[in-house]
Amino acid sequence: MRHPFLLQLLLAYVGVCDVRGVSEFKICAFNLQHFGESKAKKEDVMHTLAKIITRCDVSLLQEVRDSKQKALPQLLERLNKYDIYHKYAAVASERLGRSEAYQEQYVFVYRTDTVTVTGQYQYPDNRPGDVDAFSREPFVVRFKAPKTALKEFVLVPQHTSPANTTKELEALYDVLQHVRKMWKTENVMLLGDFNADCAYLSKRSRQKLRLFTENSLSWLIKDKTDTTVRSTTSCTYDRIVVHGDAFVNAVVPFSAKPFNFQLEYQLTEEQALMVSDHYPVEVLLKNGTAKLSFSLFLISLLTFISR
Ligand SMILES: *[C@@H]1O[C@H](CO)[C@@H](O)[C@H](O)[C@H]1NC(C)=O
Ligand SMILES: *[C@@H]1O[C@H](CO)[C@@H](O)[C@H](O)[C@H]1NC(C)=O
Repeated sequence: MRHPFLLQLLLAYVGVCDVRGVSEFKICAFNLQHFGESKAKKEDVMHTLAKIITRCDVSLLQEVRDSKQKALPQLLERLNKYDIYHKYAAVASERLGRSEAYQEQYVFVYRTDTVTVTGQYQYPDNRPGDVDAFSREPFVVRFKAPKTALKEFVLVPQHTSPANTTKELEALYDVLQHVRKMWKTENVMLLGDFNADCAYLSKRSRQKLRLFTENSLSWLIKDKTDTTVRSTTSCTYDRIVVHGDAFVNAVVPFSAKPFNFQLEYQLTEEQALMVSDHYPVEVLLKNGTAKLSFSLFLISLLTFISR
């Protein structure tokens, strides 16, 4: 070999790519089960939350019940201390819910170095023809993520109320159509705790949902996947659904799954339940420029060698 140094350089570069390849762009959705002051006071719970949330480029957090608006800033501070390689910011909806006594916020936490927020839209309480369909109307956010194959996408969150799951998921289809028109985009993901299983949504009711029958939609978290922590339950409540071919093609095949943090961090069931009774669900997006930059590098290297 005439150029051992170059070979080493090449191997080093491939090594770097492999390491980074492990951390492709990750989108997560996590029902934090009553996240507020009392959880924020528990050191080990906050530590586990920081570990979980900093695995993701964008996380949808649900059941944020932070009435005094203190727990969320504390969580963000945690994330930024725990992961020194990225900066985290958040956009949050209003407090949503039919009764004053029970309200939740949707919160998107994201890495500011890989993602920017380019639009926000709170779906209204009463649209003509759809009188107060939701308990917690979707807080729709558009993101720009230049390093992903998709570049830009919209996330539509939903935490259904168990009593009205079917009705709310039907209405979510209308939200999707509205958002597509409003922002002239096909790249839409619907995600969250849909309660789309067990006692709240039968298989038969689900098969009638437009969200399910429409060909342009792909349900990425498969049935019989357990998204609940309790060993006595096994339900696929939390879901990730993508719209359009471009989105499906941008997803790393078979990467959509729950993150079993109990197993991963070796917690007891009791310890895990202190964090939440749900697992987060997650999916990876392909890196848009990796192959191109690597081939450009190879071409220039070969050109250099052959001179
Ligand atoms: C993904 O794209 C970024 C930006 O172009 C690049 O720096 C990074 O190395 C790529 N990741 C992989 C796995 O090659
Ligand atoms: C279910 O929907 C009905 C009719 O829209 C509403 O009155 C009721 O409060 C909803 N239940 C819950 C738990 O949100």
